[in-house]
Amino acid sequence: MAILVLGGAGYIGSHTVYELIDAGRDVVVADNLQTGFRQAVHPRARFYQADIRDRAAMDRIFEEEQIEGVVHFAASSQVGESMTDPLKYYDNNLCGTTVLLSSMVAHGVDKIVFSSTAATYGEPKRVPILETDPTSPTNCYGETKLAMERMMGWVSRAHGLKYVALRYFNACGAHPSGAIGEGHNPETHLVPIILQVPNGQREYVSIFGEDYPTKDGTCVRDYIHVTDLAQAHVLALDHLLRGGESDVFNLGNGVGFTVKEVIDAARAVTGHPIPAQVSPRRAGDPAQLVASSERAKAVLGWAPRYDELETILSTAWSWHRSHPNGYEEEKA
Ligand code: UFG
Repeated sequence: MAILVLGGAGYIGSHTVYELIDAGRDVVVADNLQTGFRQAVHPRARFYQADIRDRAAMDRIFEEEQIEGVVHFAASSQVGESMTDPLKYYDNNLCGTTVLLSSMVAHGVDKIVFSSTAATYGEPKRVPILETDPTSPTNCYGETKLAMERMMGWVSRAHGLKYVALRYFNACGAHPSGAIGEGHNPETHLVPIILQVPNGQREYVSIFGEDYPTKDGTCVRDYIHVTDLAQAHVLALDHLLRGGESDVFNLGNGVGFTVKEVIDAARAVTGHPIPAQVSPRRAGDPAQLVASSERAKAVLGWAPRYDELETILSTAWSWHRSHPNGYEEEKA
């Protein structure tokens, strides 16, 4: 039996495929390659270029492969873009998940682990955030992810689907082997944008807002290594395959860093002065998001290994230095 990873050519998906294969799983990857890269797919995974909104393509995979569980990353994930193009998020994230779940139900596949987000909480009333805290997204991206979670809940009641929603905080870093890393085009995330400066691709970093109610006025986030996130998917899948119940878990390190602190840490790791300039706030950004991940530790036995900001930035820097244009140059 195999595990189907949808979006397995993307950043977090590709790292999860590496962990699943290391754990001895047979893995099938499906990705439409709109934001993912074929080069990021583990050489031992079977690959289908397919879009989750394409019912015939989903049906074909479930008919050709013996799938016992699904890990679902195939979604649009940029906070800023979701505010200017919300319909893209409803289409890809919600319509896509509707098609996927319909195909799973039709083929009797009843276990799914999927990417949710800290953006489901909106502006938290307190940090660290617990899974039981209120959800009130401040951006369309978080809204669609919350709706995906609720869709799973109703499908679970009607059809017996078991799901685990993993609410990620800020994924960053790269595979410790250097084999794969974070390649987005265009890049919008803070850590790879900062590293473009020492890589000679950008003159300075823009800090989006300095008037938030935080210690230095810049937004606070909980940065988590992508391999630690990936490991949580392996454990969540094990939980479901053992007969575990549907559940929702936060995944973060429980420590918040401001944008300025991340830039300072990157200066220390790269030895480059990394100039920064303050610019206006970006729409949809909550002031602070910091996770309590105690439930994932207690229920899944999750134990992050790369939790120091310096380690996270060092692995990211090592990949970006050797891949200054991400996966793009490998395409040529
Ligand atoms: N930022 C800058 N300058 C930049 C880029 C980002 O100041 O050039 C700031 C943002 O305003 C934010 C912080 O850096 O305060 C982190 O921004 P990212 O775009 O890297 O990440 P987000 O916090 O917006 O979103 C990420 C994921 C989401 C997830 C969220 C949860 O992309 O999927 O973390 O914390 F929901």
